[in-house]
Amino acid sequence: MNKQLVKKILEENGVLILKEKFTLDDFEQFSNDIGGDFIQKEEKHTVIGGNSGRSMVGENKSVFTATGLKSGHEVPLHGELYFQNINPPDLLWFFCEQPGDRSDSTWYCDGVTLFESLSPETQTYLVSNNLATYHRYHPLEVWQNIYGITDPAELEIVLSKNRVRMKYQPEDGAIWTAFDSPILQKKGSTWAFINNILPFGVREIFYPDQTKSFVEFGKDIEHKKSMILEIKEVADQLTKEIHWEKGMLAIIDNKRTLHGRGQVSNFERKVFVRMSYWS
Ligand SMILES: [Fe+2]
Repeated sequence: MNKQLVKKILEENGVLILKEKFTLDDFEQFSNDIGGDFIQKEEKHTVIGGNSGRSMVGENKSVFTATGLKSGHEVPLHGELYFQNINPPDLLWFFCEQPGDRSDSTWYCDGVTLFESLSPETQTYLVSNNLATYHRYHPLEVWQNIYGITDPAELEIVLSKNRVRMKYQPEDGAIWTAFDSPILQKKGSTWAFINNILPFGVREIFYPDQTKSFVEFGKDIEHKKSMILEIKEVADQLTKEIHWEKGMLAIIDNKRTLHGRGQVSNFERKVFVRMSYWS
């Protein structure tokens, strides 16, 4: 399958699933042939910067485990890295070396259909207020671990290069970061809803004890909450699942198609991910 065909299928569907029996080498070769630049793990990894607990696979510094070592929690639908990257990857490449349980399928949802299924009021509001701010809170030991940096002044400089604002709390060493990112991406004459609103919003509403991090958008807190609940309800109805089989590969258009994951309890699951630009 050549680059042109992959591009055409992704433009039409936003996702491509291949059930041939690929090996990890085939996966790397295929993604190398079609993708452009890949996001690599850096020593001080400002680009990844999440706390997903991903680890690298093999020598190639751009193949990661999709599941953290112990973080098997359900992940609501999202676009990858919209919460703190000015240039989120165009493509996500998934490969299954070892399936886990049926409940830990990867979810996906077309962001264009999702946008077009929202109420006219929400659509109009989002188009004219197309920006969310992600506020993240990290205690000292957490940020030092996820960024691989110990000095808050150094971290502030590194983050500012990616337009992430940072506030350091000298009393306990914790930090707050803030990052502005679009909620919608233009797709022809319409829009795709693709961002990190649902993971932040679902946690805020349903699991408020888990984190202080939050997303800011909407006229006020009540308006934000009602939009999050509406978006979640519509997204739940539109979500499709990839039930992994050994050797399966999937490509997701990260400028259009949201992805997420069910709860992982079988840590034998080996689903790997690469993130790339088109060129
Ligand atoms: Fe993700």
